Amino acid sequence: MTIVSPSKEDVAAAANTLRGGGVVAFPTETVYGLGCDTFNVTAIQHVYDLKGRPKNNPTIAHVLEPSWALKLTPKWDDQCEALTETFWPGPLTLVLPKSDSVPKEACGGRDTIAIRCPKHEIANELLAAFGGPISAPSANKSGYISPTTAEHVECEFGGDVLVLNGGQCSGGIESTVLSLIGEPAILRPGTVSQKEIEAVIGCARLLAPKNQTESPGTAAKHYSPNTTTVLCCREDVDAVNDPTTAVLQLDGNATKSKLTIQMPSNPHEYATNLYSALREADAAGACKIMIELPPDTAEWFAIHDRLKRCTAS
Ligand code: TXA
Ligand code: MG
Repeated sequence: MTIVSPSKEDVAAAANTLRGGGVVAFPTETVYGLGCDTFNVTAIQHVYDLKGRPKNNPTIAHVLEPSWALKLTPKWDDQCEALTETFWPGPLTLVLPKSDSVPKEACGGRDTIAIRCPKHEIANELLAAFGGPISAPSANKSGYISPTTAEHVECEFGGDVLVLNGGQCSGGIESTVLSLIGEPAILRPGTVSQKEIEAVIGCARLLAPKNQTESPGTAAKHYSPNTTTVLCCREDVDAVNDPTTAVLQLDGNATKSKLTIQMPSNPHEYATNLYSALREADAAGACKIMIELPPDTAEWFAIHDRLKRCTAS
């Protein structure tokens, strides 16, 4: 069995797997991660191989508490203190200069490192049992939709990886990535908004996707179903008359489709369900997936970002 609803003993065994250079998938409040020891180069390479991830795309190191960040970066200033006091544990990742002791392989060959403290009981138990930072990209094959359930992870890696089951991730989309190299810059939008970050540190510019050489994982096409996927308006959804099309609708009403998934009108619930819905639509054997565009307001911003990326060609 590869999925376990972990007892304390299972978590201890998973920590031992990490100590031995192995890989363990675990839940966070955003999506599931594919974890390994940040300081073990062979284990890091194994994670990249499992995912088919380009070696230049750096991973996030997960920590149990802010003090652990001092093992990873020499730069921990008032700005870091203020941000982590407000947002940790939670879905904010900070990019900082890396300490010399951190292998470059853990950082996509860079001299910076992304650090975050997840808000999930099982993630925290695993970190505590392991006793050190765990590097973990999302537990999906590179470019595909991030996993928000243990079953999603199993679909990606079959029996190759132990998955600690924490049920469905509540956040549903990946953390906000904030670079503190130079002026603060948001490399990837997420549940923690630009406005919330600016309320703590004054200013944080938002990098447009095309400018994201700083963060290769946010290149235009990402989080994508294998099926051709397009964004559309409510009228397009209402007009669907095609038994080969799958639809994720909000206000529209597609009655003549292969599969119609009703998405929640609340942005938080929408985010929680988005990747499950995309996976279900992708597995339906449709020729096309149509996604009705959500409202163009601030609370939908990160969702728009993911929808644009999953429909980019
Ligand atoms: O919510 C999340 O962040 C999830 C959970 C598992 O923690 N993780 C996640 O990891 O989404 P991943 O590897 O799929 O995405 C990490 C993002 C990528 O866009 C990557 O390029 C960026 O963070 N990143 C990581 N280290 C970086 C660095 N040193 N400089 C710039 N960007 C970095
Ligand atoms: Mg990912």
